[in-house]
Amino acid sequence: MFDFKPDDSLEKAELYRQLLAAAGALIEGEDDAIANMANVASLIAEFLPGLNWAGFYRMVEGELVLGPFIGRPACIRIPLGQGVCGTAARDRATQLVPDVHSFPGHIACDAVSRSELVVPIILDGEVVAVLDLDSPHSDHFDTDDSEGMERLAALLAPSFAA
Ligand code: SME
Repeated sequence: MFDFKPDDSLEKAELYRQLLAAAGALIEGEDDAIANMANVASLIAEFLPGLNWAGFYRMVEGELVLGPFIGRPACIRIPLGQGVCGTAARDRATQLVPDVHSFPGHIACDAVSRSELVVPIILDGEVVAVLDLDSPHSDHFDTDDSEGMERLAALLAPSFAA
């Protein structure tokens, strides 16, 4: 068992530095994408307060399919271009959504979600998965979060090499 639980008083920059270091240590030498996504979902839930869901959707034959996550059961398949996740995958672009009710086509897997951050994981120019964080608080995520998650996505991307 690993114990990466951070100190509650850490500033966000330091929290992300430690999260990235812990993820790097867990991923190093392991190329199984499912195992790495599972550990990273767990680390995110341990490090970041104020989330109700953290996890992954994998690109499988042109649609997003639920992967490892922490949170309540979620929608299993999301077509490209639909919802926040499908938009991130289609546009290959991070989606930082302060109020999910204002996002056209948002898919409400858990009614308590109020804000959302979705980051595509890109390998060799192709989206191989998305990393999705949900919060029950409006406007919960900022650019520190999107930059931190993009670094985490870059760390995970090589695991998706066939
Ligand atoms: N809200 C997402 C769906 C996934 S759940 O939040 C886990 C969306 O609109 O794509």
